[in-house]
Amino acid sequence: MPVIPRSAIGARFIGWGTALPEKVVTNEELSKTMDTTDEWIRERTGIERRHIGGTTASLSIESGRKAIQMAGIDPLSIDALVLSTTTPDRTVPATSAAVQHGLGLRCGAFDVNAACSGFVYALVTGHGLIAMGMKRVLVIGTDTLSRITDWTDRNTAILFADGSGAAVIEAVTGPGQLMGWDFDADGSLEELLYAEIGGTLHMDGKEVFRRAVRIMVDSAEKSLKASGLTANEIDLVVPHQANVRIIEAACKRLDIPMSKTAIVLQETGNTSSASIPLALFDAVANSRVKSGDNVLLVGFGAGMTAASAVIKWNQS
Ligand code: UT7
Repeated sequence: MPVIPRSAIGARFIGWGTALPEKVVTNEELSKTMDTTDEWIRERTGIERRHIGGTTASLSIESGRKAIQMAGIDPLSIDALVLSTTTPDRTVPATSAAVQHGLGLRCGAFDVNAACSGFVYALVTGHGLIAMGMKRVLVIGTDTLSRITDWTDRNTAILFADGSGAAVIEAVTGPGQLMGWDFDADGSLEELLYAEIGGTLHMDGKEVFRRAVRIMVDSAEKSLKASGLTANEIDLVVPHQANVRIIEAACKRLDIPMSKTAIVLQETGNTSSASIPLALFDAVANSRVKSGDNVLLVGFGAGMTAASAVIKWNQS
C-alpha cells in the first residue's frame, strides 16, 4: 500500500468540466428494439436514460475546455494531458494527441486505459507528475462505449453510454488534496468483460457484479488506511456508476450510508472513464461537497481493475 511521502509536492483541483452528448436514449426506447422493459432496467440497475453520441476526442475537448475556462488559465501553462479512455478514436495515435491539438495545448499528452477504473488511475498519475515537478496537469476521463456496444444484446446495451469529465490540477505549497490511493488489477479475469479490436463488448454480468463489490471494498479500504481515515470520516463516496445495486452492496460492506454517495447513473448509464468525474462534479455543482470534506473515489472495471483515492476537497 503506497503511503504518500510528506515531502511530495501536492496538488489540488482548480477547474473542472463535463460533457454529455445531446442525444438521449430512454429505457422505453430500448424496450422497443429489444426484449427488455423500463421497469426491469430501473429495478436491476437504477438506469433511466443515457446519452449517446460524439467521439472520444470531441467530448474530451468539450469537457477539457470547460475545465480550463473555469480555472481561468492559459492553455499553454498546462504541462501535461492525461486522458483516460478505453474507447480511443484510433488505434494510433493516442486520442490525447487530437485532444491536445483541439485544446491548443503544447505539452506532453498520453492515454491511460484501465477501463472503468481509468479516471482514478489518470488522476493519481497526474498527481505523480506534479510530485515530479510539473505545475499544472489536465486529467480527462472520456468514453464512447456506444460505439463498441452490440445494440441487439440486452445484457450490455441497457448499461453502456457516452460522456466525459475533466479537471485541471495544480501544484500547491501545502500537502495538497490527495491523502491516500490504491490501484489493483487481476488480468486472470480478462474474459469476464472484453471487446476484441473492432468488436463489441462481451460481459459475464453476474460474475462482474459479484467480483465488483469485493474489489471496490478492498480498494476503498486500502485508500482509507493509506489516508489515515475511517469510513465514518468520509463525507462523500463517488463510486463508479455501473449499477446502483453494486454501489448499495459495496457501501453496506464499507458501512457508509447511501445518503453519502454521489449517483448520476439514472441519467448517464455506465460511461466508464467518465463516470466518476461526472458524479463528482455533479455533487460539487449541487453543493454536496464543501471545503475540507473527505471524498472517496472508487472504481472497478474490465481487467479486472480497481482504483480508489481519498481527496480532501479544496485542500492546498
Ligand atoms: O463497468 C463494469 C461494467 N459491468 C457491470 O458492472 C455489470 C455488472 N452486472 C450487472 O450490472 C448485472 O449483472 C446485470 C444488470 C448485467 C444483470 O442483472 P442481474 O440482476 O444480474 O440479472 P440476471 O443476469 O441474473 O438475470 C435475471 C433475469 C434472467 O431471466 P430468468 O433466467 O430469471 O428468467 C435474465 O434472462 O433477467 C433476465 N434479463 C433481462 N430481462 C429484461 C437479463 N437482462 C435483461 C434485460 N431485460 N435487459
